[in-house]
Amino acid sequence: HGTIGVNQAGNLEIGGVDAIELANRYGTPLYVYDVALIRERARGFKREFEKHGVKAQVAYASKAFSTIAMTQLAAEEGLSLDVVSGGELYTARAAGFPVEKIHFHGNNKSREELEMAIDVGIGCVVVDNFHELALLKDICAEKQAKASILLRVTPGIEAHTHDYILTGQEDSKFGFDLQNGQAELALKTALDDSHFEVLGVHCHIGSQIFETTGFILAAKKIVEKLAYWKNSYSFKTKVLNLGGGFGIRYTDEDRPLPPSAYVSEIITEVKSLAASHSMEMPEIWIEPGRSLVGDAGITLYKTGSTKEVPGVRKYLAVDGGMSDNIRPALYQAKYEAVLASRPLAEAKETVSIAGKCCESGDMLIWDLPLPDSGKQEILAVFCTGAYGYSMANNYNRLPRPAVVFAENGEAALVVKRETYEDLLQHDLPYLSSVKK
Ligand code: LLP
Repeated sequence: HGTIGVNQAGNLEIGGVDAIELANRYGTPLYVYDVALIRERARGFKREFEKHGVKAQVAYASKAFSTIAMTQLAAEEGLSLDVVSGGELYTARAAGFPVEKIHFHGNNKSREELEMAIDVGIGCVVVDNFHELALLKDICAEKQAKASILLRVTPGIEAHTHDYILTGQEDSKFGFDLQNGQAELALKTALDDSHFEVLGVHCHIGSQIFETTGFILAAKKIVEKLAYWKNSYSFKTKVLNLGGGFGIRYTDEDRPLPPSAYVSEIITEVKSLAASHSMEMPEIWIEPGRSLVGDAGITLYKTGSTKEVPGVRKYLAVDGGMSDNIRPALYQAKYEAVLASRPLAEAKETVSIAGKCCESGDMLIWDLPLPDSGKQEILAVFCTGAYGYSMANNYNRLPRPAVVFAENGEAALVVKRETYEDLLQHDLPYLSSVKK
């Protein structure tokens, strides 16, 4: 998919641009995105809804990779946007994203963040809990504003994924419990209040999910409740937002469905559920992050030192690590990689790719088959487009890498590499004798 391949020189090519050339021009580590692939994914989701004739919004979950350039691209592709903080909202605004298509998430939005959302005229607030409901009411009353809201519910679904990224189960910090009356009380409270327009319900069951079962089960539980609410409170659901979480292929161990398959099954299920409860078909909203940008991103590193542990393994270190990709350390996430100068060359040895941070746990890939690697090779790690840059940090005071968008043979720098001065930008001296 997309335009990631091998060029005539035998080098890895991304968006029609030679990866070695990119590394030389912009330095390493470097995040490179195949823009065509992002567009392909976005259009794939949208097409699926159109095919089924269902009103929908495909919101890009910008936590996966929030920058001005990416937000612009999302706008250009006609996506909506899910933001989870004032910072992401600010970024979206800076990119000129249409504010009525922004959905505001989060389990502990501050008064300032909610005020900012109301002031800019946000599309909708996904209300997570009673505290927020009261806070938002207060803000709306003060500003004589009305907020369109979705109620985030936890349907009590356990999706099979890493514990830290599981969100739909009962014992979760997110949302109103659907089973124990919390969600119903939230609905009643919101319906009774003229400051709210309740558009519908939201749920997100987890991330990097490979099956449709969880989505189907969640939809079932929710639609049953919505049907009951329709009868009890004359509540007409305009929107059913089933969140994101569609899995992608990092390595051969991962067997995701094509993104369209998730959507197609969800639509079919909701259609039949709605019909069986004599409910009008609601708009279906989804909010994929990883499946829109994950496999479009590649990180280029320069290889450096090696260490042989005789009879055990060979370590090959790169010039980045858990500072630009914390996922292996945090979730034991697995990745594949190739040498950018000969991506298809036969493997001759097995090496383990170490980061340069001062922690034994800073390992990017264990046991990677590679052709004999020379000195200062460019190593390309695939599928780093989601939760790579967005979770990057300055551990060990490593400046964060630059980000480049590649499309139609052209490369554009969209995030500058941090400098040492950037690292000191917010530091203030304590002792007057210390000069900046
Ligand atoms: N909607 C909500 C409410 C979410 O909490 C998330 C992700 C998404 C949408 C997007 O999910 P996606 O389509 O990207 O799976 N840092 C972790 C992932 C955490 C996901 C948090 N919520 C990782 O690197 O795997």
